[in-house]
Amino acid sequence: MYRHAGAGWSIRPFVRNDRVPCLRIFRDCLRAFPWRGEWQAFLPALQNAFASARVLVAVEPSAGVIGFLTLNVSTGYVDHLFVQEDWRLCGVGRGLLDVARTEAKQPLTLDVDTQNMPARHAYEKLGWHVMADAKPSRSGTQVRLISP
Ligand SMILES: CC(C)(COP(=O)(O)OP(=O)(O)OC[C@H]1O[C@@H](n2cnc3c(N)ncnc32)[C@H](O)[C@@H]1OP(=O)(O)O)[C@@H](O)C(=O)NCCC(=O)NCCS
Repeated sequence: MYRHAGAGWSIRPFVRNDRVPCLRIFRDCLRAFPWRGEWQAFLPALQNAFASARVLVAVEPSAGVIGFLTLNVSTGYVDHLFVQEDWRLCGVGRGLLDVARTEAKQPLTLDVDTQNMPARHAYEKLGWHVMADAKPSRSGTQVRLISP
């Protein structure tokens, strides 16, 4: 599906055995978001996405799953994008979004927590723009962004 020539990781569709490593990445990422509260509160939405959305995983031969994304292909909405901390700033997020953009055949959208400045910086570098004013959500305040 996509292979990073230098870094050795690749992107492929989710299979059942990816569920546990994806959940681990999800848990570790959400624990780093103190404004969100208990990470388990967000599990049902993820389980629902695993069942109904297009799920892409980034894998590296020795590390296994290092990131994943869930996408509603018909709307281009990205529900989840999480990269394991050790593998950030290596192009994994960009790669997942590029594959998702190709599959959706339309600009992607997502909601990012206003407090999540690292992710907001990343989306800015990737050329995303604010699409709608910040609005309250169950996880605080979120901004809707749109990709190039
Ligand atoms: C946001 C996230 C998915 C980005 O993934 P990533 O694999 O680190 O991103 P990439 O390495 O592909 O970086 C893409 C671009 O963003 C930049 N970037 C990434 N993180 C950045 C940061 N914290 N600050 C500034 N720029 C950043 C990169 O430098 C790169 O730009 P460049 O190509 O011009 O150098 C990742 O940090 C993450 O999983 N965070 C925790 C979970 C999260 O916040 N998810 C998003 C929820 S909406």
